[in-house]
Amino acid sequence: KHIKVFAPGTVANLGCGFDVMGLTLDGVGDVLEVGVAENAEGFEIRNRSGVELPGNVEENVITPAVRALLEAYGRPVRIEVEILEKIAPGSGIGSSAASSAAAVYGVNELLGRPFSGKQLVEFAMMGEALLGGTPHADNVGPALLGGVVLVRGYRPFDIVRLPVPDNFFYAVAHPGIVVSTREAREALPKRIPLSDAVAQWGNVGGLVAGFALRDVALIGRSMHDVVAEPYRKGFIPGYDALKEQVLAGGALAMNIAGSGPSVFALASNYEAAVRISGEMKRHFEGLGIGCNSYAGRV
Ligand code: HSE
Repeated sequence: KHIKVFAPGTVANLGCGFDVMGLTLDGVGDVLEVGVAENAEGFEIRNRSGVELPGNVEENVITPAVRALLEAYGRPVRIEVEILEKIAPGSGIGSSAASSAAAVYGVNELLGRPFSGKQLVEFAMMGEALLGGTPHADNVGPALLGGVVLVRGYRPFDIVRLPVPDNFFYAVAHPGIVVSTREAREALPKRIPLSDAVAQWGNVGGLVAGFALRDVALIGRSMHDVVAEPYRKGFIPGYDALKEQVLAGGALAMNIAGSGPSVFALASNYEAAVRISGEMKRHFEGLGIGCNSYAGRV
Protein backbone atom coordinates (compact mmCIF):
# COMPACT_ATOMS: atom_id res chain seq x y z
CA LYS A 1 0.00 0.00 0.00
CA HIS A 2 1.31 3.43 -0.93
CA ILE A 3 0.26 7.02 -0.27
CA LYS A 4 1.61 10.41 -1.34
CA VAL A 5 1.76 12.92 1.52
CA PHE A 6 2.37 16.67 1.72
CA ALA A 7 3.52 18.30 4.97
CA PRO A 8 3.85 22.08 5.12
CA GLY A 9 6.76 24.23 6.17
CA THR A 10 6.28 25.82 9.58
CA VAL A 11 7.55 28.77 11.55
CA ALA A 12 8.39 27.90 15.13
CA ASN A 13 8.61 30.04 18.24
CA LEU A 14 6.72 33.05 16.79
CA GLY A 15 9.05 35.27 18.78
CA CYS A 16 8.34 34.75 22.47
CA GLY A 17 6.98 31.19 22.18
CA PHE A 18 10.34 29.39 22.19
CA ASP A 19 9.66 25.64 21.77
CA VAL A 20 5.92 26.09 22.42
CA MET A 21 4.38 27.94 19.46
CA GLY A 22 4.38 27.54 15.70
CA LEU A 23 2.30 28.06 12.56
CA THR A 24 2.06 26.49 9.10
CA LEU A 25 3.07 28.17 5.87
CA ASP A 26 0.60 27.77 3.04
CA GLY A 27 2.13 26.56 -0.21
CA VAL A 28 5.63 25.41 0.83
CA GLY A 29 6.51 21.95 2.11
CA ASP A 30 7.74 18.39 1.60
CA VAL A 31 6.17 15.67 -0.53
CA LEU A 32 6.81 12.05 0.39
CA GLU A 33 5.60 8.74 -1.02
CA VAL A 34 5.12 6.29 1.83
CA GLY A 35 4.63 2.53 1.47
CA VAL A 36 3.85 -0.09 4.14
CA ALA A 37 3.62 -3.88 4.17
CA GLU A 38 2.30 -5.49 7.34
CA ASN A 39 3.86 -8.66 8.79
CA ALA A 40 7.15 -7.85 7.07
CA GLU A 41 10.38 -6.29 8.25
CA GLY A 42 12.58 -3.54 6.86
CA PHE A 43 12.96 0.19 6.57
CA GLU A 44 14.18 2.13 3.54
CA ILE A 45 14.43 5.80 2.68
CA ARG A 46 15.11 6.94 -0.88
CA ASN A 47 15.81 10.56 -1.67
CA ARG A 48 14.61 11.73 -5.09
CA SER A 49 14.21 15.39 -4.12
CA GLY A 50 17.46 16.69 -5.56
CA VAL A 51 18.22 18.23 -2.15
CA GLU A 52 21.30 16.77 -0.47
CA LEU A 53 20.43 14.67 2.60
CA PRO A 54 22.44 12.25 4.75
CA GLY A 55 22.76 8.90 2.94
CA ASN A 56 22.74 6.92 6.20
CA VAL A 57 19.15 6.23 7.39
CA GLU A 58 20.31 6.59 11.00
CA GLU A 59 21.04 10.27 10.29
CA ASN A 60 17.67 10.98 8.69
CA VAL A 61 15.06 12.61 10.98
CA ILE A 62 12.39 10.32 9.54
CA THR A 63 14.00 7.28 11.16
CA PRO A 64 13.50 8.06 14.89
CA ALA A 65 9.98 9.35 14.15
CA VAL A 66 8.90 6.20 12.30
CA ARG A 67 10.60 3.94 14.86
CA ALA A 68 8.69 5.64 17.69
CA LEU A 69 5.43 4.95 15.82
CA LEU A 70 6.33 1.31 15.13
CA GLU A 71 7.31 0.72 18.73
CA ALA A 72 3.88 1.93 19.85
CA TYR A 73 2.19 -0.15 17.11
CA GLY A 74 3.93 -3.28 18.36
CA ARG A 75 3.60 -5.38 15.18
CA PRO A 76 6.11 -5.83 12.33
CA VAL A 77 5.66 -3.46 9.40
CA ARG A 78 7.95 -2.95 6.43
CA ILE A 79 8.21 0.74 5.55
CA GLU A 80 9.51 2.47 2.44
CA VAL A 81 9.75 6.24 2.19
CA GLU A 82 10.58 8.12 -0.98
CA ILE A 83 11.33 11.82 -0.55
CA LEU A 84 10.02 13.60 -3.66
CA GLU A 85 10.15 17.28 -2.71
CA LYS A 86 12.09 18.73 0.19
CA ILE A 87 12.43 22.11 1.92
CA ALA A 88 16.16 22.93 2.13
CA PRO A 89 17.58 21.59 5.43
CA GLY A 90 18.79 24.29 7.82
CA SER A 91 16.43 26.88 6.41
CA GLY A 92 14.57 27.49 9.66
CA ILE A 93 11.14 26.80 8.19
CA GLY A 94 10.70 23.37 9.66
CA SER A 95 12.49 21.26 7.06
CA SER A 96 13.13 18.35 9.41
CA ALA A 97 9.65 18.60 10.88
CA ALA A 98 7.99 18.41 7.46
CA SER A 99 9.75 15.13 6.63
CA SER A 100 9.07 13.40 9.93
CA ALA A 101 5.48 14.71 10.04
CA ALA A 102 4.74 13.52 6.49
CA ALA A 103 6.29 10.10 7.18
CA VAL A 104 4.35 9.33 10.37
CA TYR A 105 1.14 10.75 8.87
CA GLY A 106 1.49 8.51 5.82
CA VAL A 107 2.27 5.37 7.83
CA ASN A 108 -0.67 6.04 10.15
CA GLU A 109 -3.07 6.43 7.21
CA LEU A 110 -1.89 3.19 5.61
CA LEU A 111 -2.22 1.27 8.89
CA GLY A 112 -5.86 2.40 9.22
CA ARG A 113 -5.26 5.35 11.58
CA PRO A 114 -4.41 3.58 14.84
CA PHE A 115 -2.98 6.81 16.28
CA SER A 116 -4.41 10.27 17.04
CA GLY A 117 -2.95 13.51 15.67
CA LYS A 118 -1.48 14.25 19.09
CA GLN A 119 0.26 10.86 19.19
CA LEU A 120 1.67 11.48 15.70
CA VAL A 121 3.12 14.77 16.95
CA GLU A 122 4.81 12.90 19.81
CA PHE A 123 6.34 10.39 17.36
CA ALA A 124 7.43 13.06 14.88
CA MET A 125 9.17 15.15 17.51
CA MET A 126 11.66 12.32 18.06
CA GLY A 127 13.09 13.33 14.66
CA GLU A 128 13.72 16.85 16.01
CA ALA A 129 15.80 15.43 18.87
CA LEU A 130 18.21 13.95 16.33
CA LEU A 131 19.16 17.43 15.08
CA GLY A 132 18.72 19.77 18.02
CA GLY A 133 19.27 17.39 20.94
CA THR A 134 15.81 18.06 22.45
CA PRO A 135 12.46 16.74 21.20
CA HIS A 136 10.35 19.84 20.55
CA ALA A 137 6.98 20.01 18.85
CA ASP A 138 6.65 23.63 17.77
CA ASN A 139 7.32 22.66 14.12
CA VAL A 140 5.94 19.10 13.98
CA GLY A 141 2.79 20.20 15.88
CA PRO A 142 1.61 22.68 13.24
CA ALA A 143 2.97 20.50 10.38
CA LEU A 144 0.64 17.68 11.50
CA LEU A 145 -2.33 19.54 12.97
CA GLY A 146 -2.35 22.65 10.75
CA GLY A 147 -2.78 26.33 11.58
CA VAL A 148 -1.38 27.79 14.79
CA VAL A 149 -0.41 25.44 17.60
CA LEU A 150 0.54 25.90 21.24
CA VAL A 151 2.43 23.17 23.09
CA ARG A 152 0.96 23.80 26.54
CA GLY A 153 3.29 21.24 28.14
CA TYR A 154 5.70 18.45 27.27
CA ARG A 155 5.32 16.28 30.38
CA PRO A 156 2.58 15.23 30.08
CA PHE A 157 2.32 16.20 26.42
CA ASP A 158 -0.51 18.68 25.85
CA ILE A 159 -1.02 20.50 22.55
CA VAL A 160 -3.69 23.05 21.63
CA ARG A 161 -4.78 24.30 18.19
CA LEU A 162 -5.57 27.98 18.08
CA PRO A 163 -7.78 29.80 15.58
CA VAL A 164 -6.07 31.65 12.73
CA PRO A 165 -7.31 35.17 11.94
CA ASP A 166 -8.58 35.67 8.38
CA ASN A 167 -6.55 38.77 7.61
CA PHE A 168 -3.20 37.25 8.41
CA PHE A 169 -0.23 36.87 6.04
CA TYR A 170 3.43 35.96 6.29
CA ALA A 171 6.65 36.99 4.59
CA VAL A 172 9.58 34.60 4.97
CA ALA A 173 13.12 35.08 3.73
CA HIS A 174 15.69 32.30 3.65
CA PRO A 175 19.20 33.73 3.28
CA GLY A 176 21.87 31.42 1.88
CA ILE A 177 23.80 30.99 5.13
CA VAL A 178 23.83 27.98 7.44
CA VAL A 179 22.90 28.14 11.13
CA SER A 180 22.75 24.74 12.81
CA THR A 181 19.84 24.22 15.18
CA ARG A 182 22.21 22.71 17.71
CA GLU A 183 24.49 25.77 17.63
CA ALA A 184 21.53 28.16 17.83
CA ARG A 185 20.23 26.26 20.87
CA GLU A 186 23.59 26.22 22.57
CA ALA A 187 23.75 30.02 22.22
CA LEU A 188 20.78 30.43 24.58
CA PRO A 189 21.14 31.24 28.28
CA LYS A 190 20.52 28.35 30.68
CA ARG A 191 19.04 30.69 33.29
CA ILE A 192 16.66 33.60 32.79
CA PRO A 193 16.31 36.57 35.17
CA LEU A 194 12.87 36.87 36.72
CA SER A 195 12.25 40.22 34.98
CA ASP A 196 12.85 38.55 31.59
CA ALA A 197 10.61 35.64 32.55
CA VAL A 198 7.83 38.09 33.46
CA ALA A 199 8.20 39.88 30.11
CA GLN A 200 8.17 36.55 28.28
CA TRP A 201 5.10 34.99 29.87
CA GLY A 202 3.22 38.27 29.48
CA ASN A 203 3.96 38.14 25.77
CA VAL A 204 3.16 34.43 25.36
CA GLY A 205 -0.17 35.08 27.10
CA GLY A 206 -0.75 38.05 24.78
CA LEU A 207 0.09 35.96 21.74
CA VAL A 208 -2.35 33.19 22.68
CA ALA A 209 -5.02 35.77 23.54
CA GLY A 210 -4.36 37.48 20.20
CA PHE A 211 -5.02 34.26 18.27
CA ALA A 212 -8.02 33.31 20.39
CA LEU A 213 -9.52 36.79 19.95
CA ARG A 214 -8.36 37.00 16.30
CA ASP A 215 -6.72 40.33 17.17
CA VAL A 216 -3.79 40.72 14.76
CA ALA A 217 -2.47 43.91 16.43
CA LEU A 218 -2.27 42.07 19.78
CA ILE A 219 -0.51 39.15 18.06
CA GLY A 220 1.98 41.58 16.53
CA ARG A 221 2.90 43.39 19.71
CA SER A 222 3.05 40.18 21.76
CA MET A 223 5.69 38.59 19.56
CA HIS A 224 8.51 40.39 21.37
CA ASP A 225 11.09 37.86 22.62
CA VAL A 226 13.75 38.35 25.31
CA VAL A 227 14.83 34.70 25.59
CA ALA A 228 16.08 33.62 22.16
CA GLU A 229 16.19 36.55 19.69
CA PRO A 230 18.85 38.61 21.54
CA TYR A 231 21.23 35.59 21.58
CA ARG A 232 20.53 34.37 18.06
CA LYS A 233 20.24 37.54 15.99
CA GLY A 234 24.05 37.75 15.72
CA PHE A 235 23.91 34.71 13.39
CA ILE A 236 21.85 36.78 10.90
CA PRO A 237 23.72 39.61 9.15
CA GLY A 238 22.14 43.06 9.56
CA TYR A 239 19.23 41.66 11.60
CA ASP A 240 18.51 44.81 13.67
CA ALA A 241 18.59 47.11 10.65
CA LEU A 242 16.28 44.79 8.71
CA LYS A 243 13.82 44.56 11.58
CA GLU A 244 13.71 48.32 11.96
CA GLN A 245 13.05 48.73 8.24
CA VAL A 246 10.38 46.03 8.10
CA LEU A 247 8.50 47.34 11.15
CA ALA A 248 8.71 50.93 9.85
CA GLY A 249 7.28 49.60 6.58
CA GLY A 250 4.10 48.36 8.27
CA ALA A 251 4.80 44.77 9.39
CA LEU A 252 2.94 43.71 12.54
CA ALA A 253 6.04 41.84 13.76
CA MET A 254 9.30 40.37 12.59
CA ASN A 255 11.40 37.68 14.19
CA ILE A 256 13.68 34.73 13.56
CA ALA A 257 11.99 31.68 12.02
CA GLY A 258 12.77 28.78 14.33
CA SER A 259 16.48 28.66 14.98
CA GLY A 260 17.18 30.68 11.81
CA PRO A 261 18.71 31.77 9.54
CA SER A 262 15.29 32.45 7.98
CA VAL A 263 13.36 35.43 9.23
CA PHE A 264 9.62 35.98 9.05
CA ALA A 265 7.26 38.91 9.33
CA LEU A 266 3.49 39.08 9.71
CA ALA A 267 1.17 41.49 7.98
CA SER A 268 -2.55 42.09 7.85
CA ASN A 269 -2.76 42.18 4.05
CA TYR A 270 -1.23 40.17 1.23
CA GLU A 271 0.24 43.16 -0.66
CA ALA A 272 2.19 44.21 2.45
CA ALA A 273 3.48 40.65 2.93
CA VAL A 274 4.70 40.54 -0.69
CA ARG A 275 6.39 43.94 -0.35
CA ILE A 276 8.06 42.91 2.94
CA SER A 277 9.32 39.63 1.49
CA GLY A 278 10.92 41.68 -1.32
CA GLU A 279 12.55 44.05 1.21
CA MET A 280 13.97 41.09 3.13
CA LYS A 281 15.37 39.53 -0.04
CA ARG A 282 17.01 42.82 -1.10
CA HIS A 283 18.48 43.24 2.40
CA PHE A 284 20.38 39.95 2.21
CA GLU A 285 21.30 40.34 -1.44
CA GLY A 286 22.68 43.79 -0.62
CA LEU A 287 25.04 42.03 1.80
CA GLY A 288 26.14 39.62 -0.91
CA ILE A 289 23.98 36.74 0.44
CA GLY A 290 21.65 34.93 -1.95
CA CYS A 291 18.08 34.76 -0.63
CA ASN A 292 14.76 33.09 -1.42
CA SER A 293 11.65 34.74 -0.11
CA TYR A 294 8.00 33.84 0.00
CA ALA A 295 4.75 35.47 1.00
CA GLY A 296 1.41 33.83 1.64
CA ARG A 297 -1.54 33.28 3.92
CA VAL A 298 -1.04 31.80 7.39
N1 HSE B 1 12.03 25.83 18.77
C1 HSE B 1 13.19 25.42 18.00
C2 HSE B 1 14.32 26.38 18.28
C3 HSE B 1 12.84 25.43 16.54
O1 HSE B 1 14.06 27.59 18.26
O2 HSE B 1 15.43 25.93 18.51
C4 HSE B 1 13.97 25.01 15.64
O3 HSE B 1 13.99 23.65 15.43
